[in-house]
Amino acid sequence: MEGNFLNCLRTGCSGCEHSGPPGTVSSAQRSSTMEIFLWLILTAANAVTATQHPVQLSPCQVVHMNAYCNDMNLRAIPGELPSGIHMLDLSHNLLQNLTQEFMSFYSTVHHLNFHANKIQFIQPGIFKDMTNLQVLDLSRNNLDIFAGSKTEVGPLTTVKNLDLSSNGLYTGMTDYFLREAPTLLNLSLNGNSITKISKDTFSGSTALRKIDLHNNVILEIEDGAFDSLPDLSELDLSMNSITCITDFNLSQLKLLNLSKNSMESFQAMDSDLEYELQYLDLRENKVHYFPAFPRRNKLMYLDLSRNLLRGINTIPPAEELDLMKDGRFPTHAQSDHRNVQNDLSRLLYLDMSYNQIKNIPSSFFNYTRSLEMLNLSNNCLMAFSVNYVSPLNFLKVLDLSFNALQNLSFAENTLQSLEELYLTANVLSVIDSTTFYRLPNVRDLHLQHNFLKICGAGQWPLQRSHRSYSTDCVILSSIHRLKSLYLSENSMEFVPQCAFHGSPLTILDLSQNPGLMLHKNAFTGLEPSLTCLSLRGNDLHTLNIDLSVFSNLRNVDLSDNKLTSLPLWNKESAIQSLNLQNNRLVTLEYNTLLVLERTLKTLYLGSNPLSCCSNLRFLHMVQTSNMDIPDIALVTCQYTQDSEHVEINITNVAQEHCEMIDRKSLGIIIIIITSLVLIVILVLLSKLCHPQRHRLRSSFKA
Ligand SMILES: *[C@@H]1O[C@H](CO)[C@@H](O)[C@H](O)[C@H]1NC(C)=O
Ligand SMILES: *[C@@H]1O[C@H](CO)[C@@H](O)[C@H](O)[C@H]1NC(C)=O
Ligand SMILES: *[C@@H]1O[C@H](CO)[C@@H](O)[C@H](O)[C@H]1NC(C)=O
Ligand SMILES: *[C@@H]1O[C@H](CO)[C@@H](O)[C@H](O)[C@H]1NC(C)=O
Repeated sequence: MEGNFLNCLRTGCSGCEHSGPPGTVSSAQRSSTMEIFLWLILTAANAVTATQHPVQLSPCQVVHMNAYCNDMNLRAIPGELPSGIHMLDLSHNLLQNLTQEFMSFYSTVHHLNFHANKIQFIQPGIFKDMTNLQVLDLSRNNLDIFAGSKTEVGPLTTVKNLDLSSNGLYTGMTDYFLREAPTLLNLSLNGNSITKISKDTFSGSTALRKIDLHNNVILEIEDGAFDSLPDLSELDLSMNSITCITDFNLSQLKLLNLSKNSMESFQAMDSDLEYELQYLDLRENKVHYFPAFPRRNKLMYLDLSRNLLRGINTIPPAEELDLMKDGRFPTHAQSDHRNVQNDLSRLLYLDMSYNQIKNIPSSFFNYTRSLEMLNLSNNCLMAFSVNYVSPLNFLKVLDLSFNALQNLSFAENTLQSLEELYLTANVLSVIDSTTFYRLPNVRDLHLQHNFLKICGAGQWPLQRSHRSYSTDCVILSSIHRLKSLYLSENSMEFVPQCAFHGSPLTILDLSQNPGLMLHKNAFTGLEPSLTCLSLRGNDLHTLNIDLSVFSNLRNVDLSDNKLTSLPLWNKESAIQSLNLQNNRLVTLEYNTLLVLERTLKTLYLGSNPLSCCSNLRFLHMVQTSNMDIPDIALVTCQYTQDSEHVEINITNVAQEHCEMIDRKSLGIIIIIITSLVLIVILVLLSKLCHPQRHRLRSSFKA
C-alpha cells in the first residue's frame, strides 16, 4: 500500500487536472525541462495506471499552498509535498502514530488537521519545532490511549487553536496536552468523558480565551479552576451534569453556556465587582428560582427556557421555605418578586419559555427596561400586563403563546416598538378593544386559537381616552404597520364591513372559524396589499367577496368549505396558488379558469364532486395545462353509468367516457323519438283501420 502510495502521489500531483497547474509539486525543486519530461512520463504512467487501478489516483491536492490529503486511507504522513505548505489536511485517514520523521518536513505549516484518524501515539516534542503551527486539530482520535501511557505531548509553543474533542479523554488526561501551551487561546474538549475540572487543569495554558467543554460528564468544578485564566471570555459547559453554581465569580467571562445540565440554581457572589458576562445560557436545566446576578453586570442575553421556574423570585419566599422544610413544595408561588435586586438594565433577550410561571408582576419590567425580546410562551400565565411605569418601549418581540391568558392589558403608550406579538393558544375574549390598535409598530399579530371577535365600524369606542375599555371585540383596522394577521380558530362568527381598513395586511388568516360570515365589504381597503388569504375550514357556502379586486393576491386557500361554485373572475388576477380542496364544486367556469390559468402555478382541486363531462373545456384544461395539481390523485370526476354512480380519476377520463354518455343519451332520445313516431303511426293506422273494418263489417252486412 505505502509503495503505491508515493507513486500515486507523484503522478497525481503532476498529472491530475484537479490538483492545480501541473508541476505544482516540483516547480521549486526541478528544472522546467526536467519537469515537462517527467510530467509527460507521469501523465502516460498515470493514464496506464488509471485504466488499471482507477482508485489509486492522486492522494493530495495542492491549492494555494494548502494540501488536501483527506479521505485517502493514509497510514502515514505523505513525505513529498511542496515545501512552504501552509495548511495540511490529513483528516479522515488511518494514521496511528505521529512521529518526528515526517513532521519535520512541514515546519511551515500553520494549520494541521488530523481530525478523524486513529492516532494513539504522538512522539513527545514533535510539535516543538513547528514554529508556525497555530491550529492543531486532533479531534476524533484515540488520544485516550496516548494519555493512558502518561506521556506528554511536549511544548505547543505557538499553537493558538487546539481541538481535542471526541477522544475519550477523562479527568486528568488533558494535563498531557496542556502543560506547556502558553499561547493557546482556543481549546475544544467537546465530547470527552471529563468528570471534574481541577484547580490546575489549565495552569499550563494561561492565555486561554475560549474553552469548549460541551458534552462531557462534568459534575464538579474545583474552586479556582479558572482563576489562572485572566483572559477567559467564553466557557461552554453545556451538556454536562453540573447541579448548581454558587458564588459565581468569573467576572472576566463574557459567555457562559450551561444549557443541558442539571442546574437547580445559579447565584453570583455578592460583590461590587463589575462582571463582563453578556450571554448566559441556562436552557434545559432544573432551575427553580430566577438567578441572582452580580449587582453590576452587562448581561444582554439570558436563556432560561425549559426550566422549573414558577415565578421570578430569586430565592424562595419565607413561606415557601417553611413548606419546603416540611418536604412539601408549594403549588402556588406568591410571586412578590421581593428578591429582585437584579439590575438587568442591559438585558435585550430573555427567554423563559417552557416553565411553570403563573404570574409576572409588571414591576419586574422596572429591572429589564431595555428588553427587545421576551419569550414567555408555554407557561401558566392567566394575566399579563404592561403598565406606564415600565413601558417596555424597546421591546420588539413578545411571545405569550400557549398560556392560559384571560386578561391582557397594555397601558397607553407602552410597547411602542413592538413588532411581533404572539398570543396563540390562550383564552382571550374580553379585552380592551384598542389593545392592538395602540401598537404603532406592530407588524405580525398571532391571535390564533382564542375567542376574539372583530369590532365593526359602529363598535368603536367613542372615548379614546378611556383607559381600560374592555369590550368583546378588538379593533383591527388602522393599525398602520400591520402586515400579518392570524385569526384562525377563534370561533369567530362574523367579519364586519371594513374590518381591516387602514391596516396594510399582506397575510390574512381567518381559517378554521366554522360558520364564519363575511360582510361583502369585509376586506375593503386591502385591495393593493393582500397577497395571502386563508378562508379554509369556514363552512362557507358561497364566496360573496370579489377576489379579483385584490391585485396582488397570490395565495388563496378556500379548502374545506362547502362552496358549490367560484365567483366569476374576469379581471386580471395574480393568483399563483389556489386551494379548492374538499368543497362541493361541480365544475369551474371556463372563463374564470382562462383568467386564472395565466398566473396559476398550483391548484388543489381534490375531493370535489366534479362533473367533468358537462364541461369538456374544463376537463381538457386540467388535463393539458402546466399547472401543478399536487392532489391530482384525489381529483375525481363523477358520472352515472348504467344508473350507477361512478367516480374516475380526472387524469383517466377520456373523451370516450363522455362520448359514451353522449351516445347513450342520444340512444335514449332516439328510442323516445322512435317510440313517439311509432305511437303516431299506430294511432294513424288504427284511425285508418277502423273505417275499413266498418266498411268490411257493413259490406259483410250488405
Ligand atoms: C505505532 O507505534 C507503536 C508503538 O510505538 C507500534 O507498536 C505500532 O506498530 C506503530 N504503528 C504504526 C502503524 O506504525
Ligand atoms: C476555536 O476552535 C474551534 C474548534 O477547532 C473552531 O471551530 C473555532 O472557530 C475556533 N474559534 C476561534 C475564535 O478561532
Ligand atoms: C449553548 O450550547 C448549545 C449546545 O448545547 C447551543 O445550542 C447554544 O446555542 C449555546 N448557547 C449560546 C448562547 O451560545
Ligand atoms: C419562544 O420559545 C418557543 C419555545 O422555546 C419557540 O418555539 C418560539 O419560537 C419562541 N418565540 C420566538 C418569537 O422566538
